[in-house]
Amino acid sequence: MFDLTNKTILVAGGAGYLGSQLCEAILLHNGNICIADINLEKINSLKYSLTQKFPDSKIFSTMLDIKNENSIIESVNKTNEYFENINGLINATYGTTGKALEELTAEEFNNANEINLTGSFLLSRHAITKMKEGGSVIMFASMYGIVSPKPNLYPEGINPNPIEYGAGKAGLIQLTKYLASHYGPKNIRVNAIAPGPFPDIKKNDNYNEEFLDNLRDSTMLKRLGESKEIAGPIIFLLSEASSYVTGQVLKVDGGWTAW
Ligand SMILES: NC(=O)c1ccc[n+]([C@@H]2O[C@H](COP(=O)([O-])OP(=O)(O)OC[C@H]3O[C@@H](n4cnc5c(N)ncnc54)[C@H](O)[C@@H]3O)[C@@H](O)[C@H]2O)c1
Repeated sequence: MFDLTNKTILVAGGAGYLGSQLCEAILLHNGNICIADINLEKINSLKYSLTQKFPDSKIFSTMLDIKNENSIIESVNKTNEYFENINGLINATYGTTGKALEELTAEEFNNANEINLTGSFLLSRHAITKMKEGGSVIMFASMYGIVSPKPNLYPEGINPNPIEYGAGKAGLIQLTKYLASHYGPKNIRVNAIAPGPFPDIKKNDNYNEEFLDNLRDSTMLKRLGESKEIAGPIIFLLSEASSYVTGQVLKVDGGWTAW
């Protein structure tokens, strides 16, 4: 039911913290992957380690800048030429500035949302043209596309999760529902995942402990998400196990948005 044999999944942002876990999970479930990311160094290092771990799997990669429609078209075409079909798309990219509301310029707001919204729209539209046998599209939204960050969680000196990010993720949720409605008759399902707190602690040793405690305390499970905990919901949404699920937002947030 969860098997992905002969399924090709294009993973945009695939070299990132959560994206790389998904690439590995797809290979574990016998699927093929295309790692598509703007960071060539991270693509190469992930491709190398996954090829060592899964020597019999088909792993393709392409450099993608989701802000550039020509780059989207090239990535989609190259993936389709290599595998002769695309069955799934995961979009795990995002744009943000980290800036406080008063300091954010219009240009920065728009730049971030060229990734969160415009790029996400164009990538899905182009990838879906290659899904000849139906498919599954998964957008990475966020709990902050559903609820607003609580100012009291942020110790002095740390800006609340920024407005362009949450506004973009909220838009991405509506984009998901619109695409699900539009492409449903073609047997293409479109869903969003809304993760809660999954900080990449290894990447940043400067995480503020008080802030991390506040994040833990805001979940019902009283802990942070581990990157591997995103894989199960994604495999579910890619596979036949979710064949009647579309237009939904699956919250993977330890209960954050439920109270
Ligand atoms: N980690 C969390 O706590 C969390 C919480 C909620 C939602 N999310 C969402 O999950 C997804 C993955 O997040 P992550 O924590 O793995 O982040 P990450 O920064 O580790 O990964 C994002 C990836 O996107 C790539 N990328 C950035 N700009 C791009 C562009 N223009 N074109 C192509 N690729 C580009 C980056 O190179 C990176 O590999 C994002 O959509 C994020 O908003 C994450």
